[in-house]
Amino acid sequence: MTQCLCQSKKLEKLHEIIAVHKGKAGTLIPVMHEAQDLFGHLPLDVQSMIAEGLEVPLADVYAVATFYSKFTLQPKGVYSIQVCLGTACYVKGAQALLDKLAELLHIKVGETTEDGLFTLEATRCIGACGLAPVMTVNDEVYGRLSVEQIDDIVHKYMEMAWKDEEHGDTSESR
Ligand code: FES
Repeated sequence: MTQCLCQSKKLEKLHEIIAVHKGKAGTLIPVMHEAQDLFGHLPLDVQSMIAEGLEVPLADVYAVATFYSKFTLQPKGVYSIQVCLGTACYVKGAQALLDKLAELLHIKVGETTEDGLFTLEATRCIGACGLAPVMTVNDEVYGRLSVEQIDDIVHKYMEMAWKDEEHGDTSESR
């Protein structure tokens, strides 16, 4: 992934965001949200910029970043796999789906595969309980899933990524 030009533009944009919010009350979380939208995650240098810009301790920024599940310190994969662990899905075996995915991708919940392709997450109810157990991959919803289907679904996305690579597309399709 080439970052150079984009990265400097993003940093510039972050400066602007901070400048707009600076000096106002309750701006830390909104700024962090905008920063995460911009970078996809909140690495330490971004947290430092926010802390410096808003004149709050870096420890406060870090505490917020690690407390709220909406924030992530790690870059997200091209495909974000979210398994619902709400009651209906849990009762129908969602944990087994999550375990299978973790085993297959060699990552834990909240982590991203080394190749940057998949991020594995657990979510609360997404309002599709009738389809339990449910998992989503980016915007696609998979319902009434069984562990046996997991392999095929993951491989489908791997193949899509390979095809994109063959055609010269990058992972900027997020
Ligand atoms: S509990 Fe999973 S969609 Fe509602």
